[in-house]
Amino acid sequence: MSQEFKIGDLEGSRPVEMVPPRKPALRLLTCGSVDDGKSTLIGRLLYDSRLIRADQFAALARDSRKYGSAGDNVDYALLLDGLEAEREQGVTIDVAYRYFSTAARSFIVADAPGHEQYTRNMVTAASNADLAIILVDARKGLLPQTFRHAFVVALLGIRHVVLAVNKIDLVDFEQTVFDDIVAAFGDFAAKLDFRSATAIPISARYGDNVSSKSSRTGWYRGFPLLAHLEQVDVEEEVRQRPFRMAVQWVNRAHLDFRGFSGTIASGELRAGDEIVVAGSGRLTRVVNIVTADGNLDVAQAGDAVTLTLADEGDISRGDVLAAPKDRPQVADQFAAKIIWMAGEPLLPGRSYLMKIGTRTVPATITELKHRIDVGTLASHAAKTLGTNEIGVCNVATAAPVAFDPYAENRATGAFILIDRSSNSTSAAGMISFGLRRAGNIHHQELIVTKAARAQLKQQRPAILWFTGLSGAGKSTIANLVEVRLSRRGAHTALLDGDNVRHGLSRDLGFTEVDRVENIRRVGAVAKLMTDAGLIVLCSFISPFCAERRMIRESVDDGEFIEIFVDAPIEQCMARDPKGLYRRALAGSIKNFTGIGQAYEPPERPEIHLNSGTDSAEACAERVISALLRREII
Ligand code: ADX
Repeated sequence: MSQEFKIGDLEGSRPVEMVPPRKPALRLLTCGSVDDGKSTLIGRLLYDSRLIRADQFAALARDSRKYGSAGDNVDYALLLDGLEAEREQGVTIDVAYRYFSTAARSFIVADAPGHEQYTRNMVTAASNADLAIILVDARKGLLPQTFRHAFVVALLGIRHVVLAVNKIDLVDFEQTVFDDIVAAFGDFAAKLDFRSATAIPISARYGDNVSSKSSRTGWYRGFPLLAHLEQVDVEEEVRQRPFRMAVQWVNRAHLDFRGFSGTIASGELRAGDEIVVAGSGRLTRVVNIVTADGNLDVAQAGDAVTLTLADEGDISRGDVLAAPKDRPQVADQFAAKIIWMAGEPLLPGRSYLMKIGTRTVPATITELKHRIDVGTLASHAAKTLGTNEIGVCNVATAAPVAFDPYAENRATGAFILIDRSSNSTSAAGMISFGLRRAGNIHHQELIVTKAARAQLKQQRPAILWFTGLSGAGKSTIANLVEVRLSRRGAHTALLDGDNVRHGLSRDLGFTEVDRVENIRRVGAVAKLMTDAGLIVLCSFISPFCAERRMIRESVDDGEFIEIFVDAPIEQCMARDPKGLYRRALAGSIKNFTGIGQAYEPPERPEIHLNSGTDSAEACAERVISALLRREII
């Protein structure tokens, strides 16, 4: 498909025009805000490559003052019809791609809007960029966001940067201003493993050093921006990587057709090639590469294809197909770098959904190693990450996944974490390396099974999970229930917040991070106890839905009985059995549930007790009848 010669008008009498071999398209990412002149720069590149006209550029300058978000700058986005509707709604699409080309090369510009969600957009835009243009305003010099942009660009694996020192006209084309900025940037960039970092003084507004060399910066010896972009060598970046394709869906167009559809993430594939299903290690052969435009002999990264295979076996959405001689790793634990994006902080131990390729699996951050200070690149100990913070962590997935380290393959080494209740993206991650091969730690089969133990005890194992505010009566009711159960001959165990915090969770406090970990531990212990055939009563505030759900999902259906011990907070405060509300209200306990920290009531508890109106005995009786109804006892 590569176009080696540009053939002129063959039918006409003009000679055939020969141009040198074209380089593949250069994928650019622009970082900076409208104030830095980012929109103007993209508008200027489009204008200079004849994609927009002078009058449009001028009209743009006028309009952008009226409607645009660019202040006095040109808001080129106003030009593009596709964005009309968006402008009316006042929303911005996440990442817009613009295409332009010159005789030497074509360009794809990913434009990540620079508002507060910029990291999210940058990550999306950067996923396959070859080069980043980082804009600074010559008058302002390097800002914290400049360092941030450079760091994130490096983190995302972009190895070439241009520091575009814009608005050089507004500092009277002063060489010293430029030199000072370049020197400061150079010190920082030196730590970031770029292969090329080039600074160019430009005026996007007037075109200085954008597509042609400016006579007003005689002291500048380098190329203008466009010439640099035309010749910068990123070939290394697009070198052949091994074949990878994540199966997006299994296509059963008709009875006799079964194909596996997806977009080739990296490498090249030919009809007849042998491939492996990464997870199972099963080998098979490609019969046909089917596309909307007919069958292909060869397909490459970026192509959307449907593969028919010699042996279809058991392949489903999420599986990664790969080159057998160069396979991805498969693991359920890895070290990764993450960029936290959610408004809520990262909670190690909480179950998130990890989306990697076309696969989605539950995952937790098992350990946050440290946070990286983006300004100094120093590592700091951290228990959590806030919005836009970057950290190094270990991740565990509920099932093994196929991946390559991000440094080797950006397509198969990147993932996102999704919040399970809001369904929004919480983080973007880059896998550094696998921590252990999936399969090195097995589940030991127990010879005396849970069912056998339960039968001996003549009961169904269960977790009775009492949740509610401090002082709602959880522990009192749980104790009364346990007494009744043991009178009936049931085998039980009782885990109580106050007690567990003297032993198992002695090292934990009451921050959100610590509570998540507390409940994770208790859940794991309770599950082991159900394996022993017990009915386990757990009495914990357990303020967050996510952790209660995680425990529910970790045990068999019907085994987790959520009991909401519901009393109005005013009543809990009035009771205040341990005097804690009084101290919390006085400000001496910071994260007290219901005062300094939220309690998320269960949405559909199996049992809902009104401990504010009903006596503890009555509540306990209700629990017993519910257990009888459910045939637990
Ligand atoms: S949980 O949130 O992690 O589930 P847990 O049930 O173990 O909490 O512990 C709650 C008990 O710790 C309360 O009953 C109370 O006695 C005590 N406590 C001390 N500080 C706090 C606090 N900040 N918030 C809630 N309970 C606290």
